[in-house]
Amino acid sequence: MDLRGKTALVTGSGVRLGRAIAKALAEEGCNLALHYNSSAVEAESLREEIKGFGGRYELFQADLDDPKQIDSLIREAQKQFSYLDILVNNAGIYPKGSGLETDPGMLMQVFKVNLFSQFLLIKAFARQLPEAASGKVVNISDSKVFKRGTDHFAYRLTKSAVNEMTLQFALELAPLITVNAVAPGIIMPLAGREDMDMQPVAERRVPLKRIGSPEMIAQNVIHLLKQDFITGQIIRVDGGENI
Ligand SMILES: NC(=O)c1ccc[n+]([C@@H]2O[C@H](COP(=O)([O-])OP(=O)(O)OC[C@H]3O[C@@H](n4cnc5c(N)ncnc54)[C@H](OP(=O)(O)O)[C@@H]3O)[C@@H](O)[C@H]2O)c1
Repeated sequence: MDLRGKTALVTGSGVRLGRAIAKALAEEGCNLALHYNSSAVEAESLREEIKGFGGRYELFQADLDDPKQIDSLIREAQKQFSYLDILVNNAGIYPKGSGLETDPGMLMQVFKVNLFSQFLLIKAFARQLPEAASGKVVNISDSKVFKRGTDHFAYRLTKSAVNEMTLQFALELAPLITVNAVAPGIIMPLAGREDMDMQPVAERRVPLKRIGSPEMIAQNVIHLLKQDFITGQIIRVDGGENI
């Protein structure tokens, strides 16, 4: 797919990985539906930062734990752009806790934001595409789920389900829509702890002995979006950590 002139919705585009993905798409010549939840200021500053690329960039606020807001996000995006060619499901939450520490309310909340929102957005995306138009979906997963661990129980469950959902939708939505995922490894410290030195962690856990960057994730998203013969793939961008 030639990305120039295509319209992409990026969820959680105001900060960190989502912001890098949105910037890379703007550089490729896409119009952007820039979704944010609480990061209104950051989303506005992103629009300001990319305006020189010459596309059309609109901001959309929605809390993705609410299916009604997901519906209206897609409806509002359609009003502005007529339809979307690309969906990047990036937004997510990363709460701590083992299985015993996870209460049902928390589990449900993580499922809503990390899995159900991607599921609802993919369905709405598929339905809004004009007949015979092709579309592309990239879900952001996590390479952490390829190895078991007792931390982040709810998060691990949701990202494992995102991987499986990617394959199931890839089958179901072919041949017009491709559905792939990027599974990042250690890319950034936790939100709010950006000054943390991740190098010692990388030395221990990552064969390539370094952490990644948001731009590396963005470039892999772009790669998948440009390919017309790849669907149902999960690219692990993790310096070999999953091995
Ligand atoms: N950072 C890493 O090293 C890493 C590693 C592996 C996988 N990942 C995955 O990569 C993606 C981005 O990670 P990140 O570190 O950039 O995340 P982050 O800094 O925690 O940001 C989360 C993003 O999700 C949005 N979001 C959270 N809850 C939401 C809700 N209820 N409704 C709508 N939007 C919501 C936030 O929007 P607002 O800020 O506007 O509220 C924000 O843009 C996530 O899916 C994460 O699981 C990240």
